[in-house]
Amino acid sequence: MALTVSTATQSPSRLDTISEIEPTQVAPAKPTLLIVDDEEGPRQSLRIVFKNDYQVLLASNGQDALDLARKHEVDVVVCDIMMFGMSGVEVLKELKEMDDSIEVVMLTAFETIETARQALRFGASDYLNKPFDIPTMRSAVKRAADKHRSALEFRKTNEHLHELQQMLQDQRMREEMARAQGEIYASVLHDINSPLTVISGFVELINRSMENAASVEGEQLAKIKGDLNTLNGQVGRCFEISRRYLSFLNKQDDAERARVGANQAINDLRDLLVRHPIARGHELTVTGLAADAIADINGTDFLQILLNLTINALQSSDTPHRVEVTCELLPTPLDISAFPDGPEMRFINRDGFSNVTPILAVSVTDNGPGISAQTIARMFEERFTTKPPDRGTGLGLSIVKRLIREANGAIAIRTKMGKGSTFTAYFQTI
Ligand SMILES: Nc1ncnc2c1ncn2[C@@H]1O[C@H](COP(=O)(O)OP(=O)(O)OP(=O)(O)O)[C@@H](O)[C@H]1O
Ligand SMILES: [Mg+2]
Repeated sequence: MALTVSTATQSPSRLDTISEIEPTQVAPAKPTLLIVDDEEGPRQSLRIVFKNDYQVLLASNGQDALDLARKHEVDVVVCDIMMFGMSGVEVLKELKEMDDSIEVVMLTAFETIETARQALRFGASDYLNKPFDIPTMRSAVKRAADKHRSALEFRKTNEHLHELQQMLQDQRMREEMARAQGEIYASVLHDINSPLTVISGFVELINRSMENAASVEGEQLAKIKGDLNTLNGQVGRCFEISRRYLSFLNKQDDAERARVGANQAINDLRDLLVRHPIARGHELTVTGLAADAIADINGTDFLQILLNLTINALQSSDTPHRVEVTCELLPTPLDISAFPDGPEMRFINRDGFSNVTPILAVSVTDNGPGISAQTIARMFEERFTTKPPDRGTGLGLSIVKRLIREANGAIAIRTKMGKGSTFTAYFQTI
């Protein structure tokens, strides 16, 4: 079996031209042309025609041609259709399967023209009749080589694009993560702020009651013990808040997702706020459910939502006003269409709300100044606040929105300037 590999050297004229254009660049490698013909004559004459411009590989049968194509990066193949053993069309199919950018020019005798036409359907780039004339053969191979080069360039561009997309995606992911981390740190600080305020208030109370006492006993001791108990609870809450956010940062699923009864959260809210400096001078009433229910949300998240809404209601005005927290179990689904977004109304998490009964509705109502149309449109944005810097960070409602979304709950806001506002949070129950 005659199998020759020719590695003809670069033509001097070609090298000269290249070095003139770009002296520092290495001359590009010649394209590789594989000639497959079981007749020695055409094989050798084709080699002579192309040896200056191509690295020419010769194969006398289909199997050897495929072996060569596996070992070398072949750009163009000239392949006879009628051969012993594997036919030219079979070789074409296998080559295309190996790498569909390989371009194949079929050589055909008159009687195999129909087969050659079929070969075009299998992806051959051209077919030439035997005997061929050299200029026609040259231009057919050149066309095939050009097509191959374009296909490779296209592939490379595509790969580049893909890489770029991947990089963008990674960058976006990193930015998302960094943003989420920033948000979480800010949330921890924000949420820990209210128990810390209570803690410092209690420490102050205890200090004062012990200031002039040589010894503490009886009723005073019992009171201090009670205060220390509350203090301890608040410290526990600080730990719980940071533990929950940090476990989120570490991507741990909050497996235990401790639920609490609505009334326990309502009682905690009352305990926390009645002695909170924020409630001083205002009238705060907090009423639980007649028959308790469990909201489908982590207990700390639930309390955090109620705290933020109630503190906002208390802060809505400095002049003494009333804030009322009430709970209700709804036996029928909410008619969401009754809450169109407008200057006096907002509905948060319309698309994500799982409107499954019974629904726990907790309302926080104040008879403060009400919310303007401009504020109601923006108040759930992160860092949007109308308060002075020492009173508000603008994070409260953005945290509430995130927690509500995570719980597939919703919030409806109704307000009237001069009359006050009601924020109702809806939760699924379990
Ligand atoms: N009950 C309410 N009455 C009037 N305005 C309200 C009420 N609740 C919220 N707002 C408005 O929405 C804004 C955003 O509230 P949000 O809780 O996000 O931030 P904040 O209370 O300003 O600051 P932070 O909660 O971070 O201490 C408030 O600054 C206020 O203008
Ligand atoms: Mg707030």
